[in-house]
Amino acid sequence: NKIRMMGAPTDVGASRRGASMGPAALRVAELQRGLQQHGLEVVDGGDLAGPANPQQPPVQGLRHLDQVVQWNQTVYAAVEHSLRAGEVPLLMGGDHALAVGSIAAVARHCREQGKDLRVLWLDAHADANTSQSTPTGNIHGMPVACLLGVGPAELTGIGGQVPALQPQQICQVGIRSVDREEKRHLRELGVRVYDMRHIDEHGMRVTMEQALAGIGPDTHLHVSFDVDFLDSALAPGVGTAVPGGPTYREAQLCMEMIADTGRLASLDVMELNPACDVRNQTAELVVDLVESLFGKSTLIRRPEGPY
Ligand code: ARG
Ligand code: MN
Ligand code: MN
Repeated sequence: NKIRMMGAPTDVGASRRGASMGPAALRVAELQRGLQQHGLEVVDGGDLAGPANPQQPPVQGLRHLDQVVQWNQTVYAAVEHSLRAGEVPLLMGGDHALAVGSIAAVARHCREQGKDLRVLWLDAHADANTSQSTPTGNIHGMPVACLLGVGPAELTGIGGQVPALQPQQICQVGIRSVDREEKRHLRELGVRVYDMRHIDEHGMRVTMEQALAGIGPDTHLHVSFDVDFLDSALAPGVGTAVPGGPTYREAQLCMEMIADTGRLASLDVMELNPACDVRNQTAELVVDLVESLFGKSTLIRRPEGPY
């Protein structure tokens, strides 16, 4: 299916500025051409528009709620439109708060189409805070909670069903920074989390086999890729870098195993922050990994999986 790139140039969900330049950096790193090289049909729909970043402090534990809601409504509509057209939407963030709109649209689409939705959340952070538990007020630390029905009604209600997502539908990989109360939320919400310790102990291969288990012919697989998933030495171009992430090879294996399922149907590429990057190296790395996600591989491989 045709891949539709869409930029959401904003950083209203973060406190460090710069993720608003993420879409431009991905274009400079030739994301579209990189994917086209592998025979994929890719259109660049340009950037969505939304409110500017007013750089205000949090109000009752939420920074820029109005702006985050507006951006998410726009993202929701664009992703929904693209899915209806039978495309694979590729959202270029923008901060990770926009995953609420993106995934709410995917969830709605799956309900309408009778598809089995699975969300793979690749991130250093669990993004399961609430206005009560957040140490920062930044809404990019809250999208998972919002999608699971915990958060301000303006966000949990996007997509017309609360919660937009059931906990069994989401699985997190690469997690290594979780705030104190956030740990309790993850437990209570029942989110499956493969943290870095799990990857250390079992390796990326086993971890991804577990994360992808149960995916079948009727699955719509959504990947929400927060670029800070990657080890910060490899990928400095993010606003909230955390050391101890997947290496280049581990990240490649992760992406290739997702590609092998043949079920990737929508993607978020979030939190790329060119203001923190070194000569666009993180954007270039992300393009390389996204190519793998869509099936680039070194050799013609005989798939081992059922698909
Ligand atoms: N847990 C921290 C917070 O709530 C960091 C969240 C970072 N999230 C992200 N999408 N980069 O502020
Ligand atoms: Mn993160
Ligand atoms: Mn995130």
